[in-house]
Amino acid sequence: MPTLVIVGAQWGDEAKGKIVDWLGSDAEYVVRYSGGNNAGHTVIIGDQVFKFHLLPAGILHPNCVAVLGSGMVICPEGLLKELDVTQAAQARLGTLKISSAAHVVFPYHRKLDMLEEEARGANKIGTTSRGIGPAYQDKVARMGIRMAEFVHPQHFRTRLEAVLAVKNKQLEMFGEPKIEFGPLFEQYSSYADRLRPYVCDTDWDLQEAVAGRKKVLFEGAQGTFLDLDCGTYPYVTSSHPIASGACLGTGIGPRAIDNVLGVCKAYTTRVGSGPFVTELEDEIGAKIREQGQEYGTTTGRGRRCGWLDLVALRQSCRINSMSGLIVTRLDVLSGIGDLKVCTGYRLDGRDIPSMPANIDDLSRVEPVYETLPGWEGDLRSARALSDLGRNVQSYVKFIEDFTQTPVAILSIGPDRKETVMLRPDLIWG
Ligand code: IMP
Repeated sequence: MPTLVIVGAQWGDEAKGKIVDWLGSDAEYVVRYSGGNNAGHTVIIGDQVFKFHLLPAGILHPNCVAVLGSGMVICPEGLLKELDVTQAAQARLGTLKISSAAHVVFPYHRKLDMLEEEARGANKIGTTSRGIGPAYQDKVARMGIRMAEFVHPQHFRTRLEAVLAVKNKQLEMFGEPKIEFGPLFEQYSSYADRLRPYVCDTDWDLQEAVAGRKKVLFEGAQGTFLDLDCGTYPYVTSSHPIASGACLGTGIGPRAIDNVLGVCKAYTTRVGSGPFVTELEDEIGAKIREQGQEYGTTTGRGRRCGWLDLVALRQSCRINSMSGLIVTRLDVLSGIGDLKVCTGYRLDGRDIPSMPANIDDLSRVEPVYETLPGWEGDLRSARALSDLGRNVQSYVKFIEDFTQTPVAILSIGPDRKETVMLRPDLIWG
């Protein structure tokens, strides 16, 4: 069964977009299963740069079906903007399908996202302000509006009237003015008209694709430690970026997943607030940020940078039952000098094997480091493991040994061709 999940193994921004685009050239379906336009993927093809927040990277392949799955929350104007830009830039695109069970993000979600953040004060999460948390809150509270209702004019009117009455009460509690029904309904009805042709029962389509042994690639957004349950709660997103989320967010069962590849950077980054055991708040961290241009695709915020946290990565390999790892951005570490990797966590003088659930404990964890020799020079012309120096090879071997997970692919630059395949057998099974 050739199904493959590509999951973020850390805190997001692991360069999944490039990998999904590269492997997606082979896939018949590329499917997003969680999150919304809080995600940001950059795909570089020659001199064209595409920045996606909602569209699966597979949209750039004419023979591919790009699916926005039922686990997503979708901002209609954001999606339409991306579609317009991509259609203008690329003559031949894949087919887009949007799950009728996915939820719609409205302006009141974005407003409430900002108001809730403000109210958190010093404890703010550092959300992307895209309304993602409030949209998922509505879904759980059974107050969300699904795509199927959104594109049905009469149902949309009835649902929006009912939901907006409650949302306006919430806005009033924050001292904010009400949102008028009429203009909102008009504006969003025009978006619904444009999106209607794409909305369908994607769960059924994907079940058929899996049964027909089609190549289906599930594209994770964010990363494992931003997962609502498995992440560094409460500094997490409101959905399930982990590999199991591919089942929850597309209507396929766990036994339909063949392989899981986790994408990790050769170091660690995170955006937003929350504990970060291996964070470097010094000139090395700043150098990694500059060399790696570690600035958010969605918000433009500078990312926090640190050494590779192998304790977290080992945990991620287990959570996602990974078949293999894809190590990206090895080129960024060139010229940094000796490299530290975190191989242990100590809390109050005791060794602990994994992240504690209590966020205060996690913020007190001290990293135990091993130092590995670094490397110099431009790695981007390498096309095989043997083209990379001995120190790069030892670094990769150290990751494999510590996590007990084979490394399947190395990425040594942003372009499709700057990629080294080590284990093709781990990709499609
Ligand atoms: P939200 O998803 O906008 O609610 O943000 C919650 C947390 O997840 C914040 O710390 C964000 O910075 C982080 N986050 C959300 N999406 C991404 C992503 O695609 N990459 C990295 N961090 C993200």
